[in-house]
Amino acid sequence: MIIHRLGSISSTNDLLREMADNGAPEWTAVMAENQTAGRGRMGRKWHSPPGNLYLSVLLRPGMESGELSRMSLLMSLAVYHAISQKGVTLRLKWPNDILWKGRKLAGILLEGKTMGAEVIHVIAGIGINLTMPRETLPGDLASHATSLEEAGIVWSREELLTRLETAMRRYSPSIRGMDWERAMREWSLHADWTRDYVFMDGSRRVLGRPVELNREGHLILETDMGRIPVRSGDLVEI
Ligand code: BTN
Repeated sequence: MIIHRLGSISSTNDLLREMADNGAPEWTAVMAENQTAGRGRMGRKWHSPPGNLYLSVLLRPGMESGELSRMSLLMSLAVYHAISQKGVTLRLKWPNDILWKGRKLAGILLEGKTMGAEVIHVIAGIGINLTMPRETLPGDLASHATSLEEAGIVWSREELLTRLETAMRRYSPSIRGMDWERAMREWSLHADWTRDYVFMDGSRRVLGRPVELNREGHLILETDMGRIPVRSGDLVEI
């Protein structure tokens, strides 16, 4: 992985997208000290002060756009393994959050460029909270976010980078030749299947409990209207 280390930039995903469009090779990465316009999923902001990990990695996985949901689960497994430390229980929340005690430790923003059914590239934007002094957090982040420091995980940023690369390389070729069933079983093992959520997608809101993943990596929710597959969107705790 060739990592371009930068100070303050708007968003590592945005800079890497420009580099990708200019022909940057797979495994080009951009890391920033802080981001002035860090982006999260669903058009949200990603609070990005100095002190945390902001990394984007360029992948050219040679897959079809219908498989992007799978990529999302694979990348969250990779980040899960990179962060994991003995004695600390982490959980995956669909599609790709990593939680400790129900609070978010890391998030992933996957942005794919497609041409027809073909995926030209995928940018995996990874935000890992290393330290998050509660008093500095805006709005309701204080009750939703946590950090490696708080969870007692002691990887340095350099250790994390090495672990991330190893884990991403382990899971990304899988998209081509991999035992997908096995990866989904692994993902399911680390997820929390005991909570109800409100599923939100635009104006649609449905109350349900996640019960399993289907073959495509979509989440199956048990609701009053029966089981429904969820392809994209957000799960909000109730
Ligand atoms: C989410 O959970 O909403 C995804 C958060 C992803 C944040 C990372 S930080 C590095 C990269 N650059 C961005 O602007 N976003 C991602």
